[in-house]
Amino acid sequence: MKALVTYFSKTGNTEKVARAIYDALPVDKEIRPIQEMETAEGYDIVFCGFPVYAHSVPGKAQPLIKALGEGQKVAFFSTHGSLRGGQLPKQAFENAVGLAPKAKVLGHFGCRGKVDPKIIEMLMKQQENKAWAEEAQSADAHPDQADMEDASAFALSMLTKV
Ligand SMILES: Cc1cc2nc3c(=O)[nH]c(=O)nc-3n(C[C@H](O)[C@H](O)[C@H](O)COP(=O)(O)O)c2cc1C
Repeated sequence: MKALVTYFSKTGNTEKVARAIYDALPVDKEIRPIQEMETAEGYDIVFCGFPVYAHSVPGKAQPLIKALGEGQKVAFFSTHGSLRGGQLPKQAFENAVGLAPKAKVLGHFGCRGKVDPKIIEMLMKQQENKAWAEEAQSADAHPDQADMEDASAFALSMLTKV
């Protein structure tokens, strides 16, 4: 089995989670920034990660997601400032699924990722960003060890679905 872990990460949080997923996989595997990938053909499973931006998928992560072909198996992962398990990060996952209508989505993992306090301060003043930015104030220790362990367990559980 061949696995690809591919991700976009501006400040390193999603990259850390990508590494935890990659390290956990006991199969033939590659890890690559998503901007380098035009297609994911030839992989039995693609772990595709991004930071949640404005409740959605950042532009730089979209071309590969849109290029996922018929029946291509994909597991999404994301980091976000807002609370884990809430409605805000769920919306980004749903948007990612919508970008890949032909792919077979095996699952999704999300955990919190710290946000620069200066950015939080700025975004809290904008109505459309206020809700998540308020929650993000308590994300400064993430992703932490427990997040990494959860990401590893997620990686293994996705393999059982291939
Ligand atoms: C421009 C911008 C928009 C963001 N929008 C959201 C958002 O809508 N919801 C959220 O929970 N976090 C949001 N965040 C926080 C990031 O998702 C979070 O810090 C993430 O862990 C960054 O990942 P990275 O270090 O891999 O770039 C935003 C951050 C930035 C810089």
